[in-house]
Formats: sequence, structure tokens, C-alpha cells
Amino acid sequence: MSSKDAPPQGPRTSELSDREVVRAFEDAGQGHVFRFLPDLRRDDAAALLADARSVDLAQLARLAASSECAAAPAAIEPLGEELVRIGDHDDARRLRNAAHDRGQAEIREGRVAVVIAAGGQGTRMGSAVPKALWPVGPRSGKPLLQWHFEKILFWARKLGRPVPVALLVSDATAQITEDFVRWHSFFGVDPTWVRFARQRSLPAVDAEGRILLAAKHRIALAPNGHGGTFAALRDAKLLDLWHDHGVRTISYCQIDNPLVRTLDPVFVGFHTRHESEFSSKSVAKRSPAERVGVFARCGGRACVVEYSELRPEQASAVDQSGELMFGQGSIAAHAIDLGFARSVAREGLPFHRASKRVAHVDAHGRLVSPEGANAVKFETFLFDALPRAHRTLVLETRRSDEFSPIKNAEGEDSPETARRDLIELFRGWMRRAGRDAPPGSLEFSPLEAPDEHAYRASLGLPWK
Ligand code: UTP
Repeated sequence: MSSKDAPPQGPRTSELSDREVVRAFEDAGQGHVFRFLPDLRRDDAAALLADARSVDLAQLARLAASSECAAAPAAIEPLGEELVRIGDHDDARRLRNAAHDRGQAEIREGRVAVVIAAGGQGTRMGSAVPKALWPVGPRSGKPLLQWHFEKILFWARKLGRPVPVALLVSDATAQITEDFVRWHSFFGVDPTWVRFARQRSLPAVDAEGRILLAAKHRIALAPNGHGGTFAALRDAKLLDLWHDHGVRTISYCQIDNPLVRTLDPVFVGFHTRHESEFSSKSVAKRSPAERVGVFARCGGRACVVEYSELRPEQASAVDQSGELMFGQGSIAAHAIDLGFARSVAREGLPFHRASKRVAHVDAHGRLVSPEGANAVKFETFLFDALPRAHRTLVLETRRSDEFSPIKNAEGEDSPETARRDLIELFRGWMRRAGRDAPPGSLEFSPLEAPDEHAYRASLGLPWK
């Protein structure tokens, strides 16, 4: 039986009595989880048992044994005809405009739903506040969540059709994110069309596969990776609901990239015209050493190869025109056929082991904050679904238009660089429209101009 993010099988810890749960953990060599149980207050004991009931011990044992985790691809080749590059010539523009019309029609007909992944723990940010709440508007300070919602709202208003939205959340982010959205009245989006899909979590383990405790009464749980999107949408009954409502395409993006086109008619248009099952956006890598997953072909199918799995000679290999052979970096923006998503949810995705730094309590109940990686987390990756698709497409976009993720509190890929890149984006729009950009900070509301095309249209200018 494979350790995939598929529906659990067999008896579940969730169906056992308290005593049986403790025994099941002891039998699995995880009895230490209840080391502090006798001293816990009643509500803390209940919290610990609730954490324990969420654990699939049999799956964890298989994952800890690592025999069933995903393997790095054996041989890779550069992408072929699935790579689409919109050039600057007239034919290319016509193609782009046709895709735009097609995408708009799909949205207008209610065939597109948006999924925003916001379930990550954001450990590198070192903040307890989920990234969704992070202020990003250079002048307004609008939070990331609002930034995305307003881009969706623009299209819903323009096309006269509400767009179904699902926010992927996890145990780490659900409560605060949902409260925040409700508190702000869904940022103007009709609540009927917004759903939360909660992904599952798994325990972090030490080098011996022993479950770590985040506190005396809490298991150190971590979300199951963005690949958990498929199962979470299924568990929230959204895949069925959307299917019944005629949705065909899921427009997927991640909360931490304020530049991404949360809903992009051009991308949706290319995706549907190509009858693609799994489409992706890419940007040219800055350098061979850039730490970003790249698109390639594995076993004849498109795939994403993580930077850590790309050998240095592969990373720097160039083709006849001097371009990097594996130079298309993934920006984690996808258009996914709904039927394909349903099949991935049924089959599940393989888990990857990630070595991480996880604070935990030791045998004496003392909190330990390790300097380096001390634990293993198990994660599934959304892009692992890609090689299962028969028809795929990778649309190259410009980094300055669509990619500036917030990963770290400071330095590269931080709130500061995202703010800088947003301002630079707006400046570019103004420059190309023949306007003088004011010095200092600058912001266009996504409600009025989610992209350059909309900005130019608002000035009565044609698309470049
Ligand atoms: P990252 O892999 O960068 O993780 O997620 P992260 O949680 O944001 O940050 P670190 O690695 O802990 O510092 C990329 C995107 O995928 C989402 C995140 O919310 C982010 O938008 N994500 C990640 C999920 O929704 N669920 C997950 O389990 C993991």
C-alpha cells in the first residue's frame, strides 16, 4: 500500500476511545507523546488527544521508514512544444488577444474557480501571523488576502459573474485567516462564493521517526504541503460542487506572491484552447544557481524538478542559442482541469521528506529551539501531479510582471522586495502609457487595474 495523500483506509485513531488511542500510540512506539498526560489540565489533555486522533499512525510509520517517499526523477530533458512564449510580433499579439477573449468567456460562463493556497506555516517569516494578513499595498497597506480578492472582484464585476473562490487553509492558519476574512466582510466578495478548504496535517518526527511535541499538550503538527490542495478541495466537497455547477478550470496561485495574476483570462484562454489538463506559468531563471524549481520533461512528460535535485551541470547546461536548457522557473501559478484535479484527489500524491528546524519540548518538558534542522516534515507538492497530465502547457511570463514572492522576513524575497517590485511594476505601466510616475511610493488598486491591460483600458489606451 502506498503512502500517498489519499483517503485514509482501515480503522482510524479518530474512532478509538481515549485509552485505546494511548495504547495505539504505545504499540506504534510513540507512547512518549503521552508522557505528560497525567499532569495535564483537563482541556489540555483533550487538546493532546484531539491532536493524536488526527494522526494516521500506519501512514506515519510508512513515511518515517521513508521507503515510500517520492524519488528524484532519474533522467530529464528540456521542455518541448508545451512551452508557450508570447513574442512581440503581431501574430503573437493576435494569439494572446484571442486567448484573452476565450478566457474571459470561460470566466463569464462560470467555468473558472480560483484556489489560493494559504495553508503554509511561513516559518521563514518567523511570525505567528499567517502571510495572508501581511500588509502588501505599497501605500494602502492592504493585506495579501485583500490584494488577491480584489483582483478576483475586478473580473467578477467586469464580466457580471461571481467567481467561486476557495482558500486553502491548514490547522496552522485556518482560525485566524477565516476570522480575518469574516471581520473584513470578505473584502467585498460575495461570501456565498467563498469557501475554506482545510488541508490535513502530519506530525513532525525526529531522526528516529519519533513524533515531536510542540508543547506538553500539543503534537508538533505541520500541514501536508501544497499538494494537499486536491484532497482538501475534495474533503470540502468543492470538487463535486464545482463539477455540478459547470466549473471546468481551477485557477491556482499562492498567497505569498502579490504580483501573480490571481485570475488571468489570457492564461485560462491558452489552457482551454490547448485542452490542457495542467498548465503552469514560468519565468526565466535569473542565473543557473537560482534556487527555484524548473520545468523539464521526465519520462516524456512535463514535470517540475526541484533546484536541489538539479545537478550543477544540468543547471548550467545551455542549448545552441545559448539559453539555459532548464531555465524556466516555476512560479506556482497553474490552471488545472477540474476532472484532472478529481483524479489526482482520488489517487493521492507522494510525500517528500523535508529536513526542518522544529521547536519542541524534550523529555523533561523543556522547550528546545534548535539552531539547525532537527526534524523531518512530510509534504506533498502540487506540481507532482504534472507528470500525470497527458496535455500540459507552460506559459512563459515576465518575472517583473508576475513574480515577487514573500518568503523571508528580510533580504531577498521579503515584504520589502515585494513592495519594491510592486512599485516598479506600476511605474512600468505608467512609463509605457506615456505618463510621468511620481517619485516615491505608488499603488494602483487591483479593483481598478489588476494588470497592465486593465490599466491601459482605464486610460482609453489599446493593449500593447
Ligand atoms: P512555501 O513552500 O514557501 O511555505 O509555500 P510557507 O509555509 O509559505 O513558508 P516556509 O517554507 O514555512 O517558510 C508556498 C505557498 O504554498 C502555501 C503557502 O501558504 C504559500 O502560499 N502552502 C504551503 C500551503 O498552502 N500549504 C502547505 O502545506 C504548504
